Amino acid sequence: MGADIPTGRLSRTLSSGRVAARMGGNQVRYLMKRPFLSEEGQQRSREKRDADNAKILFKGLSLLRGTALKAAQMLSFERELIPESFQKELEKSYFQVPPINRALIRKIIVNGLGAPPERLFDRFDSTAFAAASLGQVHRARSKDGRNLAVKVQYPDMNKTIANDLRMLRTLVRPMADYDLIKLALEEIREVLLAETDYEAEAGNIRFFRDNLDMDNVKVPRTEPALSTGRILTMSFMEGRVLSQWLETGPDQESRNRVAQTLNDIFIRGFYELNLIHADPNPGNFLIRDNLDIGLLDFGCVRAVTPEFVSLYRELIRIGGSNDRDAYWSLLVRMKFMPENPSAGIRDEVVSLFMKMGAWINRVFREEYFDFGANPDFMARGRELGRNMQKIRRHMEGFPPEFVFLDRTRYGLIRLYEQMGVRIKLRNRYEYNDSV
Ligand SMILES: Nc1ncnc2c1ncn2[C@@H]1O[C@H](COP(=O)(O)OP(=O)(O)O)[C@@H](O)[C@H]1O
Ligand SMILES: [Mg+2]
Repeated sequence: MGADIPTGRLSRTLSSGRVAARMGGNQVRYLMKRPFLSEEGQQRSREKRDADNAKILFKGLSLLRGTALKAAQMLSFERELIPESFQKELEKSYFQVPPINRALIRKIIVNGLGAPPERLFDRFDSTAFAAASLGQVHRARSKDGRNLAVKVQYPDMNKTIANDLRMLRTLVRPMADYDLIKLALEEIREVLLAETDYEAEAGNIRFFRDNLDMDNVKVPRTEPALSTGRILTMSFMEGRVLSQWLETGPDQESRNRVAQTLNDIFIRGFYELNLIHADPNPGNFLIRDNLDIGLLDFGCVRAVTPEFVSLYRELIRIGGSNDRDAYWSLLVRMKFMPENPSAGIRDEVVSLFMKMGAWINRVFREEYFDFGANPDFMARGRELGRNMQKIRRHMEGFPPEFVFLDRTRYGLIRLYEQMGVRIKLRNRYEYNDSV
């Protein structure tokens, strides 16, 4: 069974001493050339060095698909810290785990559920129909004839994730901002490890199913008797995943409607349930023919406190105002900043948050915000995000809830931009005149 499992293969892929030596050579070549280059030439040369280094670094390194994608996705917010070429290589570095063979799936089911598939299900497809980041998903039918999806985790995931993250840490150690990147990697490790717990995910599914209460949103029903911490059985949901649906060329109105529903899920989840479904990736939304949405993948759900929700709400609401003192007091209460930093830092941080606030408030200016008509919107957000990374070092730290929230919201906005939609982002929590 060893050949099917990525752990062993992954741990053998990197011999860090040799890689470090080659990277050092590139650094030396760059430093030798530097005095002869113009400013622009230096920048280009730096980029080339980064790209060369990234290629060397990732040569032969393969990570579990889940680790590579999650790390690339999460580190894309640390753009200023991590060279773009590194990002790109990271995205490509994944090792597509070959589908787990029939015998092994059977063994996992027997070990987990105490009986082979044919005893537990009326039908069980031993070939998976979809890949999951830490496993694969099979179709099945229950004894009483209901269609099911069974998500089965690869064996030994905790070990694989720990190995992957260890290798990534080795790769980023020589980077200038290692102290900050290390924090991001630590966070990625926690998120991935949390995602191995399918029992917790099942709990999240049940909570959303019982409480989300939106007629046009469907949430799977879990099957606790056919689930464990590593096997998650739930109702099979109809629909096309968002990315495939978009490829069918849906018209403007349909795209608007779908994006509007996605945004409503976010607003309702955050403000009413105090939960964030923090993985707005197109594989996690199923679009049905009537444009209802099937919500999937509750492995990355974050609870937030009511106190945090009300502070964040205040932060959005004072966005667009010029009241520096109000901003300051809020940032201290949100624990972004210590109470007595130097005056210079205080001004810089307040200014940046004010710019952020003004940016996000652009979406409330008109009743419907048209992403197609505001092509500079995301670019501006990216620029501000980069500046935010730069001053992060002077700050108390980002509250972890904020990191999740920001990432989710930003991810959603990026989706809306790709979809080119016009939707209503005004909502009664963040904008006064809306119902
Ligand atoms: N209940 C379900 N009904 C239909 N398809 C599902 C269901 N659950 C998962 N899938 C399919 O499997 C894919 C991976 O499942 P997901 O829960 O998103 O795994 P991961 O947490 O690894 O991203 C989804 O993108 C979807 O295509
Ligand atoms: Mg998913």
